Amino acid sequence: MKRFVQLSETNKKGRNCLPVLEGTIGPPAIDVKTLYGEYGVLAFDPGYRSTASCRSAITYVDGEEGILLYRGYPIEELAENTSFLEVSHLLLFGELPDPNEKVAFERRVANFTLLHEQILKFFTGFRRDAHPMAIMVGIVGAMSAFYHDNLDISDPDQRMFSAIRLIAKIPTIAAASYTYTIGRPFRYPRNELDYTSNFLQMMFGLPSEDYEVDPVVSSALDKIFILHADHEQNASTSTVRLAGSSGANPYACVAAGIASLWGPSHGGANEAVLDMLEAIGDVKNVGKAVDQAKDADDDYRLMGFGHRVYKNFDPRATVIQKACKDVLDRLGLDDPLLEIAMRLEEIALQDEYFIERKLYPNVDFYSGILLKAIGIPKSLFTAVFALARTTGWVSHWLELHKDDHGIDRPRQLYVGSPLRHMKK
Ligand code: CMC
Repeated sequence: MKRFVQLSETNKKGRNCLPVLEGTIGPPAIDVKTLYGEYGVLAFDPGYRSTASCRSAITYVDGEEGILLYRGYPIEELAENTSFLEVSHLLLFGELPDPNEKVAFERRVANFTLLHEQILKFFTGFRRDAHPMAIMVGIVGAMSAFYHDNLDISDPDQRMFSAIRLIAKIPTIAAASYTYTIGRPFRYPRNELDYTSNFLQMMFGLPSEDYEVDPVVSSALDKIFILHADHEQNASTSTVRLAGSSGANPYACVAAGIASLWGPSHGGANEAVLDMLEAIGDVKNVGKAVDQAKDADDDYRLMGFGHRVYKNFDPRATVIQKACKDVLDRLGLDDPLLEIAMRLEEIALQDEYFIERKLYPNVDFYSGILLKAIGIPKSLFTAVFALARTTGWVSHWLELHKDDHGIDRPRQLYVGSPLRHMKK
């Protein structure tokens, strides 16, 4: 039965209620589309804590229960049993591939891993000390100047073509964004390797020496990619959707998503976790750092703790914490930063301040440590997140164009000066 919420005011048409929309699971949403047109008021929700910005069938997050589903499948099952490209197929098309579809999809992605040679020249325009994320924003944005053949966004085949092209090329771009900054030659993709191993060989291979991919490292990184592939309407995905709503091309939209992801409250957190651990420097300083994070007069926060949506635990953190421990055991690494991280986790989880505010370690707390353990340089952490999230961004961009509701255009509560005139 259709539900309505009652309003105390009656509109011009004599109505005083708004319809309630039901999803398949999760909280219902009050449909406020007619609020301004019929009642003359706006909905006010800065930070979007209570706003569903769209309908979406891709990813479901239940922050209270710590649930994350991609197309209905729990993240824990996907991380255990699938590869990143299978998850990409799931997010893009709605279903996991059967064995034939899997091979066909992997081949399709592998066909597009190379970059236009002219794009490589763009890299050399950057300073060597540029942050890889700055390079990625620039290069991905520039792609629309190269791939004109699939820019008709009214054509669903062209939309899918560019989505797959982005998933295929983003590891090549991310790896080159790193190798350029350390003065190494660009490596071409090797399509006989799987998606993640190929990224690793482009990162670490040299013309003078072959790089042998360690399956433990490749599988751990693939898991990180799966865990970061999508997360419903977060800041960067909403940025991609907002940009896409104006009809912007997919490369411009994904470049906007990369820029949004870069911030330390979002994708930049995994890099910030390592900075924090390095600054703490020694296990004996952990207590002081926790006290500083609790001080209301100090802006200092424990990076990798807390989440806007997860108020119980982050299910991605549970998966990655285990992967992190497995990898460290198998690689036999002994890293003082890890000791600091484990002590920090232990103290914070028992501290009233963190318990009361439901601040748990999030995915970035462990992904920073795991990425470090498998040899990914800190400056590339957020780029690795961007690489994985590209799949989510393009899936949302495709969905946006199926359910076109026109340009996204929020309103505001104006608090500036009322009308005034200049003195003559
Ligand atoms: N360390 C110390 N105190 C914190 C922290 C933290 N990491 N996070 C939140 N708080 C406190 C905050 O000071 C506030 O205290 P009070 O009620 O006394 O004013 C209370 O907890 C609520 O904080 P909030 O800012 O209203 O929470 P939010 O939902 O707006 O912020 C967050 C979520 C992730 C931005 C925030 O927890 C944070 O800055 N965490 C550190 C950065 C981080 O790890 N970001 C990665 C998020 S996961 C990756 C992703 O999905 O993008």
